[in-house]
Amino acid sequence: MLGARGQLGGDLVETGTEHGHEMVGLTQAECDIRDGAAVKRWIDATRPDAVVNAAAWTRVDAAEEHEAEAEAVNATGAGLVAAACAAAGIRCCHVSTDYVFDGTATSPIPEDAAPAPRSAYGRTKLHGEVAVRERCRDHQIVRTSWLYGRQGPNFVLTMLRLAAERPQVRVVADQHGAPTWTGHLAPALLRLLEAGPPGTYHLSNAGVTTWYDLAVATMGARRLQVEVVPITTAEYPTPAVRPAYSVLDNRAWRDLGERPLPAWEDGLRAYLARPDDGRPA
Ligand SMILES: NC(=O)c1ccc[n+]([C@@H]2O[C@H](COP(=O)([O-])OP(=O)(O)OC[C@H]3O[C@@H](n4cnc5c(N)ncnc54)[C@H](OP(=O)(O)O)[C@@H]3O)[C@@H](O)[C@H]2O)c1
Repeated sequence: MLGARGQLGGDLVETGTEHGHEMVGLTQAECDIRDGAAVKRWIDATRPDAVVNAAAWTRVDAAEEHEAEAEAVNATGAGLVAAACAAAGIRCCHVSTDYVFDGTATSPIPEDAAPAPRSAYGRTKLHGEVAVRERCRDHQIVRTSWLYGRQGPNFVLTMLRLAAERPQVRVVADQHGAPTWTGHLAPALLRLLEAGPPGTYHLSNAGVTTWYDLAVATMGARRLQVEVVPITTAEYPTPAVRPAYSVLDNRAWRDLGERPLPAWEDGLRAYLARPDDGRPA
């Protein structure tokens, strides 16, 4: 497991261990995926049955000015991991993003829709997908969306922090997506890894919402007395352009006979009920 200190990586290690797997979770300090020789050394030393790559350069806005750094991890590094897996004859499960799509869809996006990223981060993640497909035949690419989990950083924790600092928050209400709790994603991803054939998959909590409604639900769940004001994307310009609509159709997962992931509201409730959410790492 690469990226073990991240939101998803932490839950993958924990969930896999609970399910009886012997999980080896590596941080960047232990294994930098930009260093192909280091990745190979780890694979040779631990002889895993598969590698999950949840390591990524995830600062979406910063990637606009640091695309080469993001590319080194999200594309080149992803390719090095895939090549090391292929050389060892093991499966490479690679995590990707809804931000590879341009946001012009108006209904849930299937796995075979054409990607067209609008941000530097999205471009680097798409290049990573291409590299993984090219370099490791036994690959699974798992796209997910609007992730939150553990100590973040993520949108939900940002809302909780802002609520403590100010009486009003203004939140974009015209971007639609499916917030996904790592606590729901991790077991589904591990099941897919064990039971699913190679290919590209979408895994996200069910339903659709906006950042505004997610903020309202977060404040409501915590009974916080803060006014949430809906605004447009145009009123909140950011360096990276985000898709206006990036709900992922989890079709390939359902076609395996699997149940859809729980509704995003259930994920949020479960996350906010955990005693450790919101605390700094
Ligand atoms: N966050 C979202 O909203 C979102 C949405 C859709 C898809 N995704 C994708 O889901 C995956 C997991 O995201 P996340 O939110 O869990 O990410 P995260 O919390 O930012 O964690 C990413 C981890 O990657 C590690 N990392 C960065 N550069 C590395 C390198 N060169 N070598 C090895 N490790 C490196 C970091 O390690 P250190 O902590 O040790 O520096 C960090 O712990 C990523 O592929 C991401 O693109 C995320």
